[in-house]
Amino acid sequence: MESDTSGPVRAVKVHLGDMGESHMKNHAGESISVWMATAKLPTFSRLLTNEQAHVCIVGAGIAGLTTAYLLGRAGKSVIVLDDGPIVSGETERTTAHLVTALDDRYVDLERLHGEKGARLAAESHSAAINQIERIVREEQIDCDFERVDGYLFVPPGESSDILDREMAAAQQAGLTDVHMVARAPITSFDTGRTLCFPWQAQFHPLKYLAAVAQAIVRDGGRIYTETHAVKIDGGESARIETRDGQTVASEAVVVATNTPVNDLLAIHTKQAAYRTFVIGATVPTGLISKGLYWDTSDPYHYIRLSRSSSVASDVLIVGGEDHKTGQTDDAEARYVKLEEWARARFPMMTDIVFRWSGQVMQPVDGLAFIGRNPMDEANVYIATGDSGNGMTHGTIAGILLTDLIQGRDNAWSTLYDPSRKTIGALNTFAKETFNMAAQYVDWLTPGDVKEDVLVPPGSGAVVRRGLKKIAVYCDDAGQLHEKSAVCPHLGGIVAWNHSEKTWDCPCHGSRFDMSGKVVNGPAISNLSPVEDPPAH
Ligand SMILES: Cc1cc2nc3c(=O)[nH]c(=O)nc-3n(C[C@H](O)[C@H](O)[C@H](O)COP(=O)(O)OP(=O)(O)OC[C@H]3O[C@@H](n4cnc5c(N)ncnc54)[C@H](O)[C@@H]3O)c2cc1C
Ligand code: FES
Repeated sequence: MESDTSGPVRAVKVHLGDMGESHMKNHAGESISVWMATAKLPTFSRLLTNEQAHVCIVGAGIAGLTTAYLLGRAGKSVIVLDDGPIVSGETERTTAHLVTALDDRYVDLERLHGEKGARLAAESHSAAINQIERIVREEQIDCDFERVDGYLFVPPGESSDILDREMAAAQQAGLTDVHMVARAPITSFDTGRTLCFPWQAQFHPLKYLAAVAQAIVRDGGRIYTETHAVKIDGGESARIETRDGQTVASEAVVVATNTPVNDLLAIHTKQAAYRTFVIGATVPTGLISKGLYWDTSDPYHYIRLSRSSSVASDVLIVGGEDHKTGQTDDAEARYVKLEEWARARFPMMTDIVFRWSGQVMQPVDGLAFIGRNPMDEANVYIATGDSGNGMTHGTIAGILLTDLIQGRDNAWSTLYDPSRKTIGALNTFAKETFNMAAQYVDWLTPGDVKEDVLVPPGSGAVVRRGLKKIAVYCDDAGQLHEKSAVCPHLGGIVAWNHSEKTWDCPCHGSRFDMSGKVVNGPAISNLSPVEDPPAH
């Protein structure tokens, strides 16, 4: 195994204000986040032989690496497989707010999961932040971890009653220090009455996970990259098969691929994939108070600073403008709206130096699915349904799965059980299922363009050819690349994502790069070749 941290920063070609080169290889899109541009990650080799370990973990994002780290500390031998470099999924696209102020409000969590459930949710996210802080301290990781307060406010003109209700519910859930303040500590705009969640945190996720990966290897763990798992079987002789034909045998398997690639339907009806957008703007150092800021819009805006020594000035990170994956393709307009929203509130913003997007899996009842994979062998575990709280949900996965795999009780296991049915979420479940089913009408519609030759260079479009739909990508040199537009997961028709140069499935969020290679599950295989290419 090769572990090399002496190489250049991966995204070194991207300077502030200089974007646009293609970095997509084995990443989840073209865009580059502030973290990708400012971190050095260790590299690892492919899996070249058959191996075995106590636990095999598929996916080297925050969920997979935290699980591997904690299992390694507990004395288990672990193998981690990822089909990109480490942390090349959604974790490198995060904004890394570490919060107990969850995306789904405590008012809703109490309704959906009861008082005890809301309490356990608060407790587990708090424990996750503490766990990250502990790892940072024990491993002496220089990753800009710091405790900051979080501020939740309503958009202008809206009643702030929701904040009063949320304060009562959060306190009831055990977050007794949550309190109301007259406004958030932002001088350039008056947020009005604001709910303050003290003792949240922020960090540089890639610097953190680079060190975690090295600690896994130090503890005897093995990490293999560019290694795509194609088949995952549990049972007495659990076995993971890779695209290149190697296998890993293990006593337990953890599928931490953001959305499970080993599960056909059970989980994918209980969560929906959304794209979310982020801009990073330079701001003079010290003009904006450090903190985490959110409004209650739907979709909501999320704001923080990155004050990393690796970039010359502070970067104000503003996210929002979410839409369902594969159902809209107007990223440019969304970045513009985000910028307008941010400039109106933070007039000290100068250049927009980063623009990136990523994917979040939105669970119907607000909490992640962590535990045994439904309708599978007892030794196959999953971690998914992160919503916008994947840093803490991924860390909770590490703690919870480490306990479950060792046969230890964990008070959070029922709350996060992937098999749970949450009665109060039936309406959302029905709405999401209807939306998903409606996507199959794409089989009947015409293509985006009539003929392949009309696809502009550097772009893609779906073309109808008889009964078939073809995903046609025209590279910058004008060469056409064709694949079937039918998603190998459950037959949705993919749509071109101009901004990330990917094919995105509107049904459950699978994504494929311009050549048809799968980059996001639940699909585990690539778009199929076209059987009868046209004569050009
Ligand atoms: C723009 C944005 C902002 C966000 N902001 C926040 C925030 O402020 N706070 C917060 O808590 N959360 C936030 N999130 C959510 C959080 O970033 C994610 O939920 C989290 O990073 C997901 O981690 P993961 O380990 O589950 O998945 P990933 O990081 O996606 O890791 C999964 C890995 O599995 C690999 N993989 C997939 N299929 C296979 C296969 N078949 N074989 C081998 N490997 C495979 C992928 O290559 C990938 O590396 C945000 C997300 C986005 C997109
Ligand atoms: S992601 Fe399920 S059909 Fe494409």
